[in-house]
Amino acid sequence: MRRLLIAISLMFSAHGFAMTSDEILKQYEIEAKKENPAFLKFSAERGERFYHAERVHSNGTKVSCATCHTADPRQQGKTRANKIIEPMAARLNAERFTDPAKVEKWFGRNCKDVLERACTSQEKGDYIQYLVNLK
Ligand code: HEC
Repeated sequence: MRRLLIAISLMFSAHGFAMTSDEILKQYEIEAKKENPAFLKFSAERGERFYHAERVHSNGTKVSCATCHTADPRQQGKTRANKIIEPMAARLNAERFTDPAKVEKWFGRNCKDVLERACTSQEKGDYIQYLVNLK
């Protein structure tokens, strides 16, 4: 997935193109099927649970995606250094999930930060599906 996305994003960024969230979801779907042959489709409900799921990090703090992106992804969030993060809900922030290199970069960082492992393609797709569907 990573290599594929990097190849795609290089191709597109060189020409200044972006992708739609649907195209990005399609790429994750291809990967999710490879990772798990029983995979059927992404689920906004699973994505919502994933977004809010709190776990205890090995450093002792409680973390979830909502820690920075807030309990309501339609709201502005905050980094640990108190910098504003624009809403994650795609309806309120048209730039969300349109730049595959950016999406992969932040999944990489934040999954490690919260889960202390990489996210699976299914988790990534569920998460995007939730935030794209959110009214
Ligand atoms: C420590 C704070 C923090 C936590 C916790 C966090 N994020 Fe983020 N996230 C950020 C910041 C900062 C950005 C980049 C700024 C921006 O895009 O507005 C970002 C951006 C993203 C993006 C890029 C989306 C796009 O297309 O613009 C994705 C995907 C993402 N985060 C996923 C997650 C997931 C999944 C979790 C939970 C497993 C999570 N984040 C938890 C701080 C955080």
